[in-house]
Amino acid sequence: MRVSKIENGTVIDHITGGQALNVLAILGIDGTGGDVVSVGINVPSDRLGRKDVVKVEGRELSQPELDVLSLIAPAATINIIRGYEVADKQRVESPGHVSGVLGCPNPNCITTEDEPVDSRFEVLEDGLRCVYCDTIIREDIAEHIRV
Ligand code: CTP
Ligand code: ZN
Repeated sequence: MRVSKIENGTVIDHITGGQALNVLAILGIDGTGGDVVSVGINVPSDRLGRKDVVKVEGRELSQPELDVLSLIAPAATINIIRGYEVADKQRVESPGHVSGVLGCPNPNCITTEDEPVDSRFEVLEDGLRCVYCDTIIREDIAEHIRV
C-alpha cells in the first residue's frame, strides 16, 4: 500500500499511467484550495501494468468532471469512500458530449469571447468537435483544460 486509505471522499483508481496531474487539473486542484489529496504515479497494476491513483478527501466529482476524465483515463474506476468503506464503485463512461471544463482552441469561437456561453464538444472516435465553430481537438486533450 503506497498511498494510505482515506476516510471520506473519492478514490480515482486505474488512471492511465502518467495522467494523474492532468486529472488534478480537470478537478481544478492546484494545491491552493486546501483540498487534501494523495497521488500515486506509475504504481504497478495487474490490469494496466502501471497506473496512477488520485485520492481526494471530502469531495465527490461532478458529471462534467467525470466526462472529461473519461477522455484521458478511459479505464478509471471511481470509488466513493464513506467511513473508510467503498460505498460505491463505478467505471467512467465515454459521453456523447462534454460541456465546460475544456476550452475551444479557436480564439474567435463564441465560447472563448466574453459571452457567457459554456464550451461544448461532441466526442468523436478520434477527437472532440466544438459544436459552435467545428474546431477539432485531436490530441493533447489535457492541454485544453480550462479551470
Ligand atoms: N481505498 C482508499 N480508502 C479506503 C478504501 C479504499 O483509498 N478507505 C482505495 C483502495 O486503496 C483502492 C480503491 O480505493 O485503490 C478501491 O478499493 P477496493 O475496492 O477495496 O480495492 P480493489 O478491490 O483492489 O478495487 P478494484 O477491484 O476496483 O481494483
Ligand atoms: Zn469553438
